[in-house]
Amino acid sequence: MGSVIRTLSLASRGIGNYLTNRPLSVSFEVTYSCNARCKHCHLGGFIKDEVKAPPERFGELCHQIKPVVAQISGGEPLIRRDLEDIVRAMRRKNRAPYIVVTTNAIMLNKKRYESLIDAGVDQFSISLDYPDERHDDFRGHKGLFQHIDKLIRELKGSNGKSITLSCVVQKDNFRDLIKIAELSEKWGVNVNFSTYTWLRTNDMNYVLDADDLLEFKEIVKKLLAMRKKYHNFFASEYTFKRMIEFYEKKSIPNCRAGERFFIVNPDGRFSPCGLILTYHDSMEEMKKDFVKKNTCTACNTSIRSNCEKPVKYLIKDNLATL
Ligand SMILES: C[S@@+](CC[C@H](N)C(=O)[O-])C[C@H]1O[C@@H](n2cnc3c(N)ncnc32)[C@H](O)[C@@H]1O
Repeated sequence: MGSVIRTLSLASRGIGNYLTNRPLSVSFEVTYSCNARCKHCHLGGFIKDEVKAPPERFGELCHQIKPVVAQISGGEPLIRRDLEDIVRAMRRKNRAPYIVVTTNAIMLNKKRYESLIDAGVDQFSISLDYPDERHDDFRGHKGLFQHIDKLIRELKGSNGKSITLSCVVQKDNFRDLIKIAELSEKWGVNVNFSTYTWLRTNDMNYVLDADDLLEFKEIVKKLLAMRKKYHNFFASEYTFKRMIEFYEKKSIPNCRAGERFFIVNPDGRFSPCGLILTYHDSMEEMKKDFVKKNTCTACNTSIRSNCEKPVKYLIKDNLATL
């Protein structure tokens, strides 16, 4: 019964927020410190004297913003010892939001997984860029792939379905996406695909070129067939169509950052996205000062792509996920 009430709460918040131009997904970046050094990211290393809001403040903000999906990210969110308190402060029994922790899994073990699930996490989005040890090199952390492999096998008995592998598609790994999808099926977890953006590091070398795209389109056909067979893909036909469009044009217009999606910084201030850090004290101020003037077209990250889906796909893809 509880899960039916929760599903109805999520659906009604989704419809309400869509119709009233309120956020569908908000990323609460609880620290910018990170224990990895990823090749596609500007973050990495410990930030001394970072101003971090306490759990209750993240709870207040989450209840005030009322997103459908509350992502908890960073930096690396598991670095915060009070992460469980943050989740508890955000969570409402049998109600929205749906809570996702985005993590590199370096600090995730069975005990922490279970305590975070007990606190109210719905889904762990575990970053995985390669289906083997190349992941360690890309993330700057030796042994990480083996750790994820071991952890997921260990968790299979608990609740493997609370895990999504999250892969950022780029020039170096697009030929490995089928293997990553196969791995997700073997491990009994979900899989999602996002698009690389150069906005974090200014590195254009990871962008797919025209020749890559010919190959990529064939890979996408196979991935979509796997999606139908395995039923564990979050990325949909729409996701891949937009990814191809982004790589072809290096641009997707009409960004809805600051409105359909945005981030809350470690100190509790708002920014339109993790790539454009202008700071605002409220959603209203962000809409007035940023949204109306925003001309950025330089990303197609999963949060953006999903929050800008036409209503037809929002319904279709979310029904498939449920
Ligand atoms: C910044 S990380 C923070 C959360 C956590 N530390 C992790 O690694 O999952 C959030 C997500 O952004 C992705 N990301 C990092 N750099 C990116 C880029 N240049 N383009 C697209 N996604 C990127 C990561 O792969 C990860 O899935």
